Amino acid sequence: MRIRKAILPAGGLGTRLRPLTHLMPKEMLPLGNRVVLQHVIEECDTAGLDTLLVVLNRRKTALFAVGEETPCGADPLTGVPSRSVYFANQAEQGGLAHAMLHGEAFVGDDPFALVLGDTVIHGGESSLLGRMIAAHLEHGAAATVAAQMIPGPDISRYGVFDPIEPDPGDVFRVRRIVEKPKRAEAPSNLAVTARYVFSSEIFRACRECGTNAHGEIELTQAMTWLAENGRMVLGVRLDPAQHRLDIGNPQSYAEAFQLVAGHSDGKQ
Ligand code: G1P
Repeated sequence: MRIRKAILPAGGLGTRLRPLTHLMPKEMLPLGNRVVLQHVIEECDTAGLDTLLVVLNRRKTALFAVGEETPCGADPLTGVPSRSVYFANQAEQGGLAHAMLHGEAFVGDDPFALVLGDTVIHGGESSLLGRMIAAHLEHGAAATVAAQMIPGPDISRYGVFDPIEPDPGDVFRVRRIVEKPKRAEAPSNLAVTARYVFSSEIFRACRECGTNAHGEIELTQAMTWLAENGRMVLGVRLDPAQHRLDIGNPQSYAEAFQLVAGHSDGKQ
């Protein structure tokens, strides 16, 4: 079996990056010689994900062009590009699970990746999404989630894994995930990181969990529901040379820009 589909949420308003985001969506900001969403699409290419749904809103239709301008191969006979990029409109902001639910008809019963459009996984020897897809299929998992070590108090800004094994390896089983716990209550220092692979059961899990106090469906809770209902949930660590580049705020964007622009592989 192969996993080909990915949902790329890119509907966020980018309020923390104003005034830049008055001019353009944050996914169109440059990182080296390509824009953020191009890096994300290329990450999908490397992992064999060739059927993509970008979830945006109508203020961000400039992103249509990025789908077209990111080069890919074409069928020699028909000339049709080997990558298909579709778009869905998320008219209201309802969080990450809400964005993902806009792709339910697109994925049908297929397993799929959820790839945050404002975060790039940079560097390292291996494709993180590729490793996640392999682990997901090998273990018959319902959810496989990227994990990054976050030492210190910053762990409270993330979804945090509660691994089943006391000494989790590169691929580990998960008992539950806790969204933004107090530092003292964090079950580990492994944080949920912007890349997910799901079976279509995640949609049912979202419905079973309903909305939280803020009226949002929480993806973290839906993944915990899967684990508590006997389904396999896995964490897959970034490799030690891999960095998560978050384009969500000015400081992290500045750091990401410097890192990619200073990278000397000629490709950036
Ligand atoms: C979201 C998720 C969180 C995850 C984080 C980084 O939080 O809810 O579980 O750890 O992204 O990928 P946000 O940063 O949108 O508040």
